[in-house]
Amino acid sequence: MVENASSEYAGNLSARTVSTGQEPSRRFCVAPMMDWTTPHYRYLARQLSRHTLLYTEMVTTGALIHGDTERFLRHDPVEYPLALQLGGSDAGELAHCARLAEQFGFSEVNLNVGCPSDRVQNNMIGACLMAHPDKVAEGVRAMIDATRLPVTVKHRIGINGRESWEDLCEFVDKVSAAGCRTFIVHARIAVLEGLSPKENRDVPPLKYDWVYHLKQRYPHLEIIINGGIRSFDECHQHLQHTDGVMLGREAYHNPWLLAGVDPVFFGSEAPSASRHDALRAMYPFIRSELERGVFLGHISRHLLGLFHGVPGGRQFRRYISENAHKPGAGLEVIQTALEKVREPGQARAEASV
Ligand SMILES: Cc1cc2nc3c(=O)[nH]c(=O)nc-3n(C[C@H](O)[C@H](O)[C@H](O)COP(=O)(O)O)c2cc1C
Repeated sequence: MVENASSEYAGNLSARTVSTGQEPSRRFCVAPMMDWTTPHYRYLARQLSRHTLLYTEMVTTGALIHGDTERFLRHDPVEYPLALQLGGSDAGELAHCARLAEQFGFSEVNLNVGCPSDRVQNNMIGACLMAHPDKVAEGVRAMIDATRLPVTVKHRIGINGRESWEDLCEFVDKVSAAGCRTFIVHARIAVLEGLSPKENRDVPPLKYDWVYHLKQRYPHLEIIINGGIRSFDECHQHLQHTDGVMLGREAYHNPWLLAGVDPVFFGSEAPSASRHDALRAMYPFIRSELERGVFLGHISRHLLGLFHGVPGGRQFRRYISENAHKPGAGLEVIQTALEKVREPGQARAEASV
C-alpha cells in the first residue's frame, strides 16, 4: 500500500517545474487518501475548484529515494495548488524528499503523523510518531532547512496511551518550536492496536472542541480541522473556530461538492458550470492518458461519484462499471455513460420544441 502511490499513473507530465514559493490558502482542502487522491482524481477536482488545496496520496521517503522518484512525483501543473504528503521519520531522508518536492514544483510538503496502519508503524511512519514528538520536531526542522516550501504536519489529537490534552500540547509545542506553522488535525485519536485503518477513521469519537481549543491556545499557528465533515454548513461552523477545513471521504464520494468551493469560500466563479462540462473538460486528458497506455478503469473509477444523487447517476456508474474494464475500452465508454444523464436545461429545451 504505502510504497506504491499512484502505481496506475503513467503520465509524462512536467517534472521539475519551478515552484512559485507562494503560500497556498488552506481554507478548504481535500485530504490525502491512498489510492483515491491519485492524479486522475485530482484532475477531476481541478475541473470543479481552482482554489481548493489538494494533497497527494502519502508517499514514503523510502519509496521516493529508492524507487522510481519521477513516477511517484509526476503530476500536471493544472493540479496546483498541490501538497506532497510524505511518510517517514528519518530527518535526513525527509530533508532530501522536501528538496525533491520543491524541485518538482509542489506547493507544500506535508508530514503524515496520522496514519495508523501496522505496516507504517513498523517503519516509524504515521500516527505512531505522536509518541515521539522530538523525532517529529527533528524531521520538521530538517525539512524546513532543506526547502523554501511551507512544511506542514497532519496528525491526530492523540494515540491510545498518549491521549491527554497535555500530550497533545507537548506535541504541538515541540513541533511548532521546530518551525512548523500549520497543523492539520484529524479530530480523533488513532488506536494503534486492535482497530483497522478503516475503523480508525470512524470508531474513536470526534472531538472537534479539542481542535478549537488548540486554535485558542496557539492563535499564531494555522489550525486546519479534519474528520467527518460533510457539508458547507459544517464547514462554516468549523471556520468560526479554525483557519481551514479538510474534507476526505465526502470530497471523494461526492466531488461535485467542490464546485461550490470557489464561489462560497473564495468569492470567485467555479471553473465548470455543470457536471457535464467538468467531465467533458477532462476528455483531452483522458485521451492522452489512454494513449500513454493507462487502463481506462484506473481513470474512470475516480469519476464514479460525479453524478452522485442526480437522476441518471446510477446508470452512469453502472455503464462505466460494466464497460471500462473490457479490453480496448476507450473514451467512448465515458461519452456513452454521460449520455445516460440528462444535462441541466435539456428537459426545458426538449419541452419547448
Ligand atoms: C481511502 C483512504 C485513504 C487514506 N489515506 C491517507 C493518507 O495517505 N494519508 C493521510 O494522512 N491520511 C489518509 N487518510 C485519512 C484522511 O486523510 C482523513 O484524515 C480521514 O479520512 C478523515 O477525514 P474525512 O472524515 O473527511 O474522510 C485516508 C483516508 C481514506 C478514506
